[in-house]
Parts: sequence; structure tokens; C-alpha cells
Amino acid sequence: MLATRQPVLRRFWYAVMPQSQLADGKPHGFTLLGEKIVLWQRGDGSIACLKDRCCHRTAQLSLGFLEGDHVVCGYHGWTFEGGGRCVRVPQRPAGQPIPSSYCVPAFRAEPRYGYIWVALDEPLTGIPELPEHGRDGWRQIEQFYEPWNIGALRLMENSFDSAHIAYTHRGTFGDMSRPETTPAEITPAEFGFLSRVASPVAVRGEIAQQVVRTDSSTSERRIESIWYMPFVRRSAIRYPHGVEHVIITCATPMDDQRSMIVQWAYRNDTEAETPAAQIIAFDRAVTLEDKLILESTDPDVPLAVAEGEELHMGSDRPGLLMRRMLGELLARHGETEQRRTA
Ligand code: FES
Ligand SMILES: [Fe+2]
Repeated sequence: MLATRQPVLRRFWYAVMPQSQLADGKPHGFTLLGEKIVLWQRGDGSIACLKDRCCHRTAQLSLGFLEGDHVVCGYHGWTFEGGGRCVRVPQRPAGQPIPSSYCVPAFRAEPRYGYIWVALDEPLTGIPELPEHGRDGWRQIEQFYEPWNIGALRLMENSFDSAHIAYTHRGTFGDMSRPETTPAEITPAEFGFLSRVASPVAVRGEIAQQVVRTDSSTSERRIESIWYMPFVRRSAIRYPHGVEHVIITCATPMDDQRSMIVQWAYRNDTEAETPAAQIIAFDRAVTLEDKLILESTDPDVPLAVAEGEELHMGSDRPGLLMRRMLGELLARHGETEQRRTA
């Protein structure tokens, strides 16, 4: 599936950048599903988002600057309000009205959880609800914001693939002597599913022991994960010692080969118990193991699972369900799966 060629994928919310990036009072560009967009923050804290293409001579508005709540094109100074209407053409004689056709398309943008979320077309569902956010006794830890050369669906599948842990993560918490997996218990929802699985893990080295808060070299992870269609997952990892580590990972599709990895975590312990820097260092090591492998995979994931283009095993069931549900989503919206033709 090539995400940029499936219009229905424009009807979901995606985390595109940390809200703090907009605090510099400048317009910022991003590419979402192949669509270049420009974002900025208005004086009242609300977010404006337009197509990043001036309607005069196509220059990128993100190269311009802000004047109050408006963005000014850096080429000839045409000025746009957050709804996309051109409010000033500096070269026009004073008093001459600006035609309503002088405008650029606007998109929905909302700040939530410290990130800006954008939906390019009428959303089919809301921004995921994260129960730990702002809850007493929990803290939020920002982890990663970086582009990876992967198809977004590969990362989603990987997040629910318990068989990769023993091998991909053999350098951190994987245990190749115990490659068997237990089947996940999966409960489908309208736009995603809930999966529960328990797996034995290795706890190697001091940092890992501190993050898991154990002295032992083994532990068990009980993971309750939610897949929010199409490309967000929330994994709540519960260790026997009572520590809970909730990871939110968004694979925001920039185009058909690149995804912005936006990840943050919630923890129910304190900075004094486990410093955030250690948690990030551990998740960084784990994430780099995933990145190395995932960037070697074909970004064009086939949704049709029966054709034998890829082969499967039992532990692939969550990923196969994602493919099936995405295929059904496309069909409900009159689309067929688009693939690379070469
Ligand atoms: S291209 Fe934007 S003002 Fe001319
Ligand atoms: Fe992994």
C-alpha cells in the first residue's frame, strides 16, 4: 500500500511536530502523506495549518515569516490568515479589494499531548485518547522525533510482533534462547484493536535493571497495546515490580518511503527513582535495533495477505489483522490498494 495514494488515509489525525517547535514565532513546514503543509501558532495559542504553496507563484510559505497571526510569503509578500484567505497583496493599490479566489487550502490542526496533530480531510475518528496523560502519579517523557526511511505500516506491525524481540533485540532485552511466542489476545475495535500478550525478557546491564527496577537478569513483560488505525500505537508495559511504562509511537507518513517517528512515554515512577535520561537511553538502544532492520524492509507493504508475496507465521497475526482492516477501510471508501508499479 502506498499511503500517499490512498485518499482515505487523509481522514485521520497525525502527530506532525512538537508544539514547542512553533514557539519561535516562525512558520514551519512538514510533509504529511506527500502534502506539503505549513504550520504556525497564533497569539491565542491556536494552530494554523495551510498548504505550503503560495497561490501567487507557488513559493513555500514556510520560507516566509509571521506578521501577527498571519503568514507572509517570502517571495512577494502576499499575506494569509490561518483560514487561508489572502488579506494583503502589498503591490495592490490601497483600497482595492482582494478577490476571494486569492486563497490557499487550510487544514485542521490541534495541539494535544504537547504535539500538533493534523487531519488533511474530514476526520473519521478522533485523536487517540491517552488515559495516562496528566494523571496523578504519572510523568511524560519526550523520546524521539526523527524521520526514518520506512513505510509507516512496517513500524505498526513491528510494534505488535512479539517474535522479533528475541532476535532484533538480542543486544538489549531479547533472549534468543527463548524464541517461542505466546499468542496475543486480540480485541478488534472500529478503528484499530487491543492486544494483550505476556513475554519473558532478558534484563541485561545496570541501565536495563534500573529501568525495569529489578536486580534479576530476567523479567516478564505484560504488554497491553492498542493499535489506532492507521499509524499510532500505545503500548503499556507492566513489569512484575509494579512499574508501568507506556509508550506512544506515531509513524507519521511523510511520503511512501519516509515516516516521522514521534515517540513519548508515560511512567508511574519518579525522576528520583528512574531518571528520564536513563529511560530514554534504554528506549533509544531498543529503537535503534528496530530502525536498522525496518529500514531494510520494503516500504510498500502488501495488504492482500493470501497472494504469497510475503510469507507468514502465527505471531504475525496482529500485523495480518492490520492489513485486513486497512483493506476493508479502503473498500468501504471505494478505493483499491495502490502499489508501486515498477
Ligand atoms: S509567490 Fe508568494 S507572494 Fe509571490
Ligand atoms: Fe522492536
